[in-house]
Amino acid sequence: ESTTEVDVSAIEPGQSIKAIFRKQPLFVRRLTEREIAEANAVDASSLRDPQTLQERTKEGHEDVLVTMGVCTHLGCVPLGAAEGENKGEFGGYFCPCHGSHYDTAARIRKGPAPTNLEVPEYEFTSDTVIRVG
Ligand code: FES
Repeated sequence: ESTTEVDVSAIEPGQSIKAIFRKQPLFVRRLTEREIAEANAVDASSLRDPQTLQERTKEGHEDVLVTMGVCTHLGCVPLGAAEGENKGEFGGYFCPCHGSHYDTAARIRKGPAPTNLEVPEYEFTSDTVIRVG
């Protein structure tokens, strides 16, 4: 139970699914070209937790965004994946507990969360399957 496998080919571009990793929610998202462009249009150095989309994804797979589904403020599960379509003002995830907005790279953009959604350790075990943990 220490690792979780997800077949990312089953996720449509623009869709995000929720899985479980070490008893916590895990979000796996396939980004559209537009969502990738939106993430790349931001000057990362201007962000609260400066990271580029490239730093948060694997080379050659920048359309696959793997993060914990745990708000970095006080640990609520953000919306925008399995539950509902509220992706917040920046098109990624929205935490309704105290209003944290994450962008299409799951970087904190507005609200009290101090850091981006955490990217766990993971690797591609084939072109389409990731193993987290
Ligand atoms: Fe998400 Fe407070 S727990 S904004």
